[in-house]
Amino acid sequence: MRVFTTVENLKTYIKDASKISSTIGFVPTMGALHDGHISLVNKCLNENDIVIVSVFVNPTQFNNAKDLDNYPRTLEVDIELLKKSSKNIIVFAPTAKNLYKGQPESINYDFGGLENEMEGKFRPGHFDGVGTVLKFLFEAVTPTKAYFGEKDFQQLQIVRKLVKLEKFPIEIVGCEIFREAHGLAYSSRNERLTKQQRQEAKIIYETLLNVKNQFGTKSVTELNEMVSQVFEDQELFELEYFEIANLKNLETATYIKSHEKYRAFIAVFADDVRLIDNIALN
Ligand code: PAF
Repeated sequence: MRVFTTVENLKTYIKDASKISSTIGFVPTMGALHDGHISLVNKCLNENDIVIVSVFVNPTQFNNAKDLDNYPRTLEVDIELLKKSSKNIIVFAPTAKNLYKGQPESINYDFGGLENEMEGKFRPGHFDGVGTVLKFLFEAVTPTKAYFGEKDFQQLQIVRKLVKLEKFPIEIVGCEIFREAHGLAYSSRNERLTKQQRQEAKIIYETLLNVKNQFGTKSVTELNEMVSQVFEDQELFELEYFEIANLKNLETATYIKSHEKYRAFIAVFADDVRLIDNIALN
């Protein structure tokens, strides 16, 4: 298993390796790997000659210093887990100083308004941080294909926009949400839930499924009220937002147009642990 900690060493390796191999698949992560990540890695292994997984907790995408401090850092365990999928995986775990070529700072991106919806409203500057780190990672890794989970659906749309803006010749592959047996979407943050919170967190996916089942028979206002009520009726989770958004631009829908596609998005807190999820509605 090769682990590179500098852009320079990774690039030298890629230059040599790509003389004999043609495609580079890339799975960017912030570590604390779980089965959701591994499903992306396995898909990437099936579709590419070289597979690179980055493990980098990106400071510029955290708008909350406590969240950044609390983010789990488990590189050794992550490497062991990746080895189970393949010992040929290349791990890229740079320092912030090396990747950002100095002090980490975000570029101000215009993602055409996508950055101002949902996560953008609640996490100011988050998508500039994501865009910036991915620009540096893409430049270092030069992937043919890069893999992202649909749990961060808004992020996935932003990444598609980023590769257009930066003219990166990279195919962005969106992968279905990987869920725990009772429905909770896999996330590194799940590890920070208490046993009871983790068990009861199935309410998030159950609520989304309920919305999907009633989509088309209830109005957007009624569905919004239904979700608010679900979270008012229990004490473990606090609803930050629930929205039905147009797939085209992720703008909040107030009513449904029959020819458009929609998705429901949710963010909740369990104490200070923030969980997000989403579901296609039509
Ligand atoms: O989804 C994540 O884990 C991060 O936002 C990413 C894409 C690795 C960028 O830091």
